[in-house]
Amino acid sequence: MKFSFPFRKKKKDTLPKSSLPKIKTKTIPGAKSLKLTEALKRFECPQITFIGESFPVFLKKGSACNFTDVDGNRYLDLTSAFGVASLGHCHPTILQAIKKQSAEMIHGMGDVHPNEVKVMLAQKLSEITPGNLNQTIFSSTGAEAVETALKTAVMHTKKTGVIAFEGAYHGLGYGALQVTHREDFKKPFLKQLGGFSYFAPFPDTKIHGNKATQVSMKAVQSLVKKARRSKHPVGAILIEPIQGRGGVMVSPPDFLKALREFCDKEHLVLIADEVFTGFGRTGSMFAIDKSGVVPDLMCLGKGMGGGFPISACIGSTRVMYSWGTSTGDAIHTSTFLGNPLGSAVALAVIKEIEEQKLTDRSKNLGDFFRKELWKLKEKYPLIADIRGAGLMIGMEFSEIFYGAKTKKFIPATDKARRFIAEALKHGIILLSSGPGHNIISITPPLIISEKEISHCVGVFDKILKTL
Ligand SMILES: Cc1ncc(COP(=O)(O)O)c(C=O)c1O
Repeated sequence: MKFSFPFRKKKKDTLPKSSLPKIKTKTIPGAKSLKLTEALKRFECPQITFIGESFPVFLKKGSACNFTDVDGNRYLDLTSAFGVASLGHCHPTILQAIKKQSAEMIHGMGDVHPNEVKVMLAQKLSEITPGNLNQTIFSSTGAEAVETALKTAVMHTKKTGVIAFEGAYHGLGYGALQVTHREDFKKPFLKQLGGFSYFAPFPDTKIHGNKATQVSMKAVQSLVKKARRSKHPVGAILIEPIQGRGGVMVSPPDFLKALREFCDKEHLVLIADEVFTGFGRTGSMFAIDKSGVVPDLMCLGKGMGGGFPISACIGSTRVMYSWGTSTGDAIHTSTFLGNPLGSAVALAVIKEIEEQKLTDRSKNLGDFFRKELWKLKEKYPLIADIRGAGLMIGMEFSEIFYGAKTKKFIPATDKARRFIAEALKHGIILLSSGPGHNIISITPPLIISEKEISHCVGVFDKILKTL
């Protein structure tokens, strides 16, 4: 007897396709980029764009994982342009959402006569964020979302001190700058900054192994104790579950749990900054999801708008109600709050992440990418570590010195810089991170394919041979 199996239709892969890099010009940057550099030098403040031997190229078009520059060179973007373009560049769903919404209304009256799309987005955020996070304050940039969280925590606890972590990056507005760790960002403004932040060591399993959580928690406890009788007693703890610009530092799940328990015991507000790690970047919708911890406030931005500047701070009703009810003028708001175009784009982004299961894709392709990089690590001692989660990957270039009991990692900053410049010449766009600028930060669009990853690893191999 013959059995016939029902024909199973293969699910159509509707992800936008990218192409491998193609460099047409003899040098990078090409002639048109060099000409634009001259104009930029005249008309942009010199502090803004780094101009070096092979930097910058001027980007003209974005499509899926590709950028094309003004000279017609095609690149693979392994950065998602600062972790933003998670769906790739100019995703058709985003274009459609922009077309539809812009035909109706581009800008509304945020906190006075709100728009419908803002409500839909706030509701969607409450559905996809963990636990009881269900009330949102919208804004435009990540730094604003962080500052909203800092203010909300003060409203709730009436305490003005905040513990952040060494290596932390939360943005550069005056409030966010205060809780950002890097001294060079703060130095010229120190006299203007309020002094309400304290820094504890981020748990580093590479140095402290399974004692990392203990070491950091001890410091957190001691800071809270010391600050008790100061001008700024601690009211909140702010953490990136995975530090992005700090060098792709992954906090152990038991650390997030310990922080949660400590905050509950001390009545502190726990703020998770998921501006970089949110929306599937790390293989789950939010990086904190894996720990099972529910923060009191969560900061969102970057990937949420797929390229449109929109951000949010979402919190529990209990904490958000500490603001009280508006009596006319909201004491915390902004002109573009809950912008309808941004809200429509964010809704489209979330729908696409869910429908295309991009969080799973991020996890699987991230694992694949890291596995391939580990093979390079075996060949090249310059690679001191490969880490990350999902498609948020750090490849550390350091020299390791072994002491009697400890290991010391000396950043190979110059080699990281040369690696990134060479990669650009091969058509791969990368960024560095970490205080020593020695972590090659890899955060491609979540739609990247295995073929594109393998191509990049092949190029990395070629470059590493020459360093
Ligand atoms: C974790 C984190 N928080 C906040 C910010 C600040 O975001 P924005 O540059 O949009 O102000 C960043 C930016 O890189 C970030 O990585």
